[in-house]
Amino acid sequence: MAFTSLLALVALAAITRAAPTTICPDGTRVSNHVCCDFIPLAQALQSTLYMGDCGEDAHETIRLTFHDAIAISQSQGPSAGGGADGSMLIFPTVEPFFHANAGIDDSVNNLIPFLDKFPTITAGDLIQFAGTVALSNCPGAPQLEFLAGRPNATAPAVDGLIPEPQDNVTHILERFADAGGFTPFEVVSLLASHTVARADKVDLTIDAAPFDSTPFTFDTQIFLEVLLKGVGFPGTDNNTGEVESPLPLGNNKQGGNDTGEMRLQSDFALARDDRTACFWQGFVNEQEYMMSSFKAAMSKLAILGHNRNDLIDCSEVVPTPKPPVGKPASFPATTGPQDLQLTCKSERFPSLTIDHGAQETLIPHCSNGGQDCPTVQFTGPAGEDDS
Ligand code: HEM
Repeated sequence: MAFTSLLALVALAAITRAAPTTICPDGTRVSNHVCCDFIPLAQALQSTLYMGDCGEDAHETIRLTFHDAIAISQSQGPSAGGGADGSMLIFPTVEPFFHANAGIDDSVNNLIPFLDKFPTITAGDLIQFAGTVALSNCPGAPQLEFLAGRPNATAPAVDGLIPEPQDNVTHILERFADAGGFTPFEVVSLLASHTVARADKVDLTIDAAPFDSTPFTFDTQIFLEVLLKGVGFPGTDNNTGEVESPLPLGNNKQGGNDTGEMRLQSDFALARDDRTACFWQGFVNEQEYMMSSFKAAMSKLAILGHNRNDLIDCSEVVPTPKPPVGKPASFPATTGPQDLQLTCKSERFPSLTIDHGAQETLIPHCSNGGQDCPTVQFTGPAGEDDS
């Protein structure tokens, strides 16, 4: 009897220790009062920038989480960059002007005003947290981990640390390994991000050229579509870092805003290289696996330059993402299994349906299927307002 009571007491003590200890003003229970500050930040980001949409502004912030974090180098030492330290926001006239950061100015200028509005939140925390909020708007995205407490950057990063689409696979894998010991599997996992991505700067004649046919949902189409034979370019030919895509048709030449699919040379190469092809192929139609692998790799990326034990786990204030749309991966109309360029022979390719249609389906410009989707663009020091 006494032994049972003792066990009960020990169990109660364990529960009490693990339980959240603070109640924020809105009623949310958190494990540390520091986390409460992120709740109004999430609300402000949604109501000012993202509007609950997995659109342009959300995509840009997700890209920014990567470009701030990856600017660190074990081989070059601490002076090269501090990783996820907010240096993009603190030195907005330096890093955003590096070639590999073309287009990042939009997200930098959009986040800078939140530094003044939320003075307890550091720039590095702001970028990574904003990324988790942006991603939560994309159906099928995982709820990312968020750790708070990154000190502010004291210097900008040096140029040359951000991978570019014209880099070869060896260079890309070496850069990720040097930045934070990322494995080839983790690199491919991170590229799930390109399922909610479009390019403005690779081909300057077109805006928002999507990397897959569903740029507003966090699904596995990117992994399928990059494996298909390329047939043309959505805009002009021979841009640096771009190769032919399987769905180049848009209506932009006719005055519309729907742009054909663009394929990055780096995605093309990673999907076919023998160090990464099986990982790439392994994500096709594996929604849950892709979500958990991306989440794990993002946990590593988001704290580059910091010691996990120095940070406070505030994951409970990350908004719950919209659920997956539930549609299995499928070959877009006009494509099919005959177009697959598979170099991974050890895995069986899943059997997928083909979308109906004799013509290539246009990829909508906006998440609601429309042509004009408002985006928010604050002016700021990081560059021209070219939205
Ligand atoms: C090999 C590594 C990578 C390369 C070479 C690369 C390259 C690019 C390029 C060239 C663009 C188009 C930019 C533009 O023209 O506007 C882009 C967009 C994007 N990238 Fe990556 N990327 C890489 C990895 C990542 C990672 C790890 C993430 C996030 C975790 C990421 C997230 C995004 C997002 C969300 C966009 C879309 C931005 C928008 O729609 O405005 N990328 N990437």
